[in-house]
Amino acid sequence: MSRVSLRINGASHVVEAEPDTPLLYVLRDTLTLDNPRFGCGLGQCGACTVLLDGRAVRSCVTPVSRAARQEVVTLDGLGTPEHPHPVQQAFIEAQAFQCGYCLNGWVLTAKALLATNPHPTDEEIRRACQGLVCRCGSHVGIFAAIRRAAGGPAEAKAAHIVVPPGQPAGPAEEDAQTAPEC
Ligand code: FES
Ligand code: FES
Repeated sequence: MSRVSLRINGASHVVEAEPDTPLLYVLRDTLTLDNPRFGCGLGQCGACTVLLDGRAVRSCVTPVSRAARQEVVTLDGLGTPEHPHPVQQAFIEAQAFQCGYCLNGWVLTAKALLATNPHPTDEEIRRACQGLVCRCGSHVGIFAAIRRAAGGPAEAKAAHIVVPPGQPAGPAEEDAQTAPEC
């Protein structure tokens, strides 16, 4: 066991952990944070996403030792219910989610994308979100929310959204495919 110093959502923590312990386990099990979520545990869904110095990473495959000298931000550290971050506000206004289990990945990935590219194209959004999974099939609403957060016309391009490869075609995707061109 080693002592690992972490900065999480602006607060300092010292934990006892093996250096290769997944950051996700430390955040959830040791520090009892509700977010991020455990999904696949294999880096393949994004439910465990956090920001490390502003970059979206999968905490289930990130050793805690790698986070030691970086600023960790979880979804809870982005905003509050009273004062949501603009990306969170856009997701609320777009009513983008159903169960919300996947939201760590989408919101934090969008936050990281917009920090470096405030006005991404649909293709750039799709590429940034590649590998994120929403089992409820809420992809159309989610992409609309990201466009809204970027100040774009959220609904206008819904018909052009392509669900990343390997993701289930939910009802929302079918709606998009039949939606009229705007
Ligand atoms: S739980 Fe980490 S990517 Fe799925
Ligand atoms: S809203 Fe349920 S998994 Fe995405």
